[in-house]
Amino acid sequence: MQRLRIDLIAAARPNFMKVAPLFHELHEQPWCRSRVVHTGQHYDQNMSEAFFRDLKLPPPDLHLGVGSGSHAKQTANVMLAYEEACTADPPDLVVVVGDVNSTVACALVGAKLNIPVAHLEAGLRSGDRRMPEEINRLVTDTLADILWTPSPDADENLAAEGVPPEKITRVGNIMIDSYELMRERIDAGGERRRLGLENRPYAVVTLHRPSNVDAPAPLTALVNQLTRMAVRLPLVFPVHPRTRKNLEAFGLWARLADAPNLQVIEPLGYVDFMNLVCGAHLTITDSGGIQEETTYLGIPCLTLRTTTERPITITEGTNRLVTATELVPAVDEILAGRWPHGRKPQLWDGHTAARVAADIRRRLLSVPPRVAEATAVPAPPTSVRWAMPEPGSGQMPG
Ligand code: UD1
Repeated sequence: MQRLRIDLIAAARPNFMKVAPLFHELHEQPWCRSRVVHTGQHYDQNMSEAFFRDLKLPPPDLHLGVGSGSHAKQTANVMLAYEEACTADPPDLVVVVGDVNSTVACALVGAKLNIPVAHLEAGLRSGDRRMPEEINRLVTDTLADILWTPSPDADENLAAEGVPPEKITRVGNIMIDSYELMRERIDAGGERRRLGLENRPYAVVTLHRPSNVDAPAPLTALVNQLTRMAVRLPLVFPVHPRTRKNLEAFGLWARLADAPNLQVIEPLGYVDFMNLVCGAHLTITDSGGIQEETTYLGIPCLTLRTTTERPITITEGTNRLVTATELVPAVDEILAGRWPHGRKPQLWDGHTAARVAADIRRRLLSVPPRVAEATAVPAPPTSVRWAMPEPGSGQMPG
């Protein structure tokens, strides 16, 4: 019996944490071989390679090296390069994760080549089509043959869009798998100490959404509020490249960097970043993943957006949507202890990758999960391309 050949599409910072647990799970399975495809959407050392290292991912089997560009250009370049890779050596299943441009690009390629496509983190909707990620989610879910959802709201969104229920499996939140896999290293990490924040209350800030950082007015308002807030609570702000570029272009960088009690730092790797989050009193963010991680950790999260595709972090967790002017009063509430502790949503338990693997077997090999445990080890792969890379056997392209 041939092993099932599975492409795992990694592309940008938030995706590495979603691909890593699944890679490790599939690596243990005798019935499949996975190929890690890095599209190159994120390419800086601290936006990409640091995550491969932290999450113990081997160097990618394929690096498409597309880099930055407008949405159309980036999406098109991923499609061109991935179509070529799939034509030369087609997988049996393309697994895309999250909602970045590479997600929709690879889903399109798979769908047009009649290769089954599975979407991990399917069904999330903000309802705001001005967000590029919302377009990516809608298109990807329309194309996907298998939709793995993290929460009941995602199942409901898909049902409302007419997705047949047999395509959907609720598997839970894969980001929590990454956290649990790395938990010991995160706890032992020294980032808090290095920044002089050990045993002190502080907040972590991250910002990169176009709606917050691409125009001078919203970014100036946020810089004003952050510098005000730093008087109450020390802030640490790892700055995304998009945000840094705009802070510099709008003449705001020096004001932020020179503000007392506010540390502006380079983007961090996964372990260092989570070490910082775990010790924080609260987070201020526009990221999707941080809304989920703080809900899991029971840490208050202020999300600088008008919508969220992750409503369960509000209804069950510790998240609240705020505007720039609502920030300081919300921080005061948190500091006064008036904030819900929240609870961990169902299936956010560190076992999502195992459920995904079981679902692949069930669907593509027609093997019920428990029976499959007892089956013989299939023959090794025939194609060298698909052999597992030895960890550390290659270098990530710059
Ligand atoms: C992308 C995703 C977003 C995700 C975010 C996390 C899309 C549409 N957006 O947004 O969903 O939350 O990643 O980071 O896919 N840049 C660098 N170095 C890098 C990567 C980017 O300098 O390694 C610069 C680019 O030149 C560009 C800017 O950052 O100017 C934005 O990068 P891009 O990947 O286009 O979008 P993100 O804002 O990172």
